Amino acid sequence: MDLDIRPCASAVEFRQAIAPISSYFGRSVTSEDQAERLSRVMPAERVYAAWEGGRAVGGLGAFPFRLTVPGGRVPAAGVTVAAVLPTHRRRGLLRAMMRALLDATYARGEPIACLWASEATIYGRFGFGLASLTAEIDVPRERSAFCGPSSTSGNVQLVALGAAEQLIAPIYERVAAETPGMFARSSAWWQARTLDDPEWRRRGNGDLQCAVLEHEGRPAAYALYRLNSAFQHGVQTGSVAVVEAVADSPEATRGIWRYLLDIDWMARVKADLLPVDHPLLLLMAEPRRLGFSLRDGLWVRVVDVKAALAARSYQARGSLVVDVIDEFCPRNAGCWRVGSDGVERTDKAPDLRCDVSALGSAYLGAFTWSQLARALRVQELLPSALACADALFRAEKAPWCAEIF
Ligand SMILES: CC(C)(COP(=O)(O)OP(=O)(O)OC[C@H]1O[C@@H](n2cnc3c(N)ncnc32)[C@H](O)[C@@H]1OP(=O)(O)O)[C@@H](O)C(=O)NCCC(=O)NCCS
Repeated sequence: MDLDIRPCASAVEFRQAIAPISSYFGRSVTSEDQAERLSRVMPAERVYAAWEGGRAVGGLGAFPFRLTVPGGRVPAAGVTVAAVLPTHRRRGLLRAMMRALLDATYARGEPIACLWASEATIYGRFGFGLASLTAEIDVPRERSAFCGPSSTSGNVQLVALGAAEQLIAPIYERVAAETPGMFARSSAWWQARTLDDPEWRRRGNGDLQCAVLEHEGRPAAYALYRLNSAFQHGVQTGSVAVVEAVADSPEATRGIWRYLLDIDWMARVKADLLPVDHPLLLLMAEPRRLGFSLRDGLWVRVVDVKAALAARSYQARGSLVVDVIDEFCPRNAGCWRVGSDGVERTDKAPDLRCDVSALGSAYLGAFTWSQLARALRVQELLPSALACADALFRAEKAPWCAEIF
């Protein structure tokens, strides 16, 4: 039967297009409620599907994001709901949907696409590069003392989810605006995603709680978390599952984490999706007890080399010429002169050569060009080109995406 790749034209089609990803989460029917919530943050026309006889057998969509990059924000496609039914896998449907989605992203003027990969082997072929790392911790409470004097920083209050957005959205926004890899959240996003607490999201944990820390008379940090209460032989074995803890100052960071680490009855505190340069490592008296471990985070696809490179800032004077190889989007291929005075196509000899996926890995500052070269992802064509590129692209903060979308 013929297959047709096209975006959704209605709410009904939208619900069909997300059915393949729902099926991998074990749901044979996508609930109307779930589809409606998702549609509040992702317009139907941004969801592509592979249609067979009026039925969607694959789907791929994009959230319209404003992504923070070093020195600014860029419109970006937050790629999501990628799935092809097991009956139709490995026939090129994801490839065809990705083709349509990236072409539309380029036409819309969004120079970047980004995603979280269920498997790291899927997206490199489409030009995505690993662009941030993320950390997990699992710390026993009795070994969670901080070094230094145990002064408190601020008062913490529990806030009902219904009243949380107005208090915590400004804190998130302050941090997101200056952290590469974070995206701006709309009110719809807060309500339909971050503060939405349906049963299926709890995975056996308690309901979502929100704690807000006031420091120097204003809300400066918050934590969203769940308690997983458990006892064995009368002894507490439960844990705090931190969903998101965001603070706008070092004191507020210290205060909100002390709060999380001091909740009675809990034996452990677990968190994932933390930035790799999280201050906790240096706050803890016994950093090893955090069980700090790393995994891949956000992946970035530079969709429009010129616009993407021009949208971020550079830390040094001068420029260099990068020869970009891009098989999936050949419009990007060729030599680009990059510097703080602009970005342009050039016929000058290149200093560096790399695949567009390596450019994605360098873009937010997660990896230096030298690191990429040591992993054979970048070729240095002129001596000292790597040092020059590292100086230009240097980032103050590790990129961090606080949530999987
Ligand atoms: C991942 C998925 C969408 C791929 O869809 P698909 O239609 O089978 O993919 P395609 O046939 O277009 O494959 C394109 C290429 O990717 C490769 N590929 C696809 N899925 C892959 C995987 N999981 N691991 C490694 N390679 C994969 C194919 O082998 C093919 O390689 P080629 O370019 O060398 O020919 C599908 O397997 C799926 O729905 N998986 C479960 C849900 C999931 O993981 N979604 C991703 C969420 S981030």
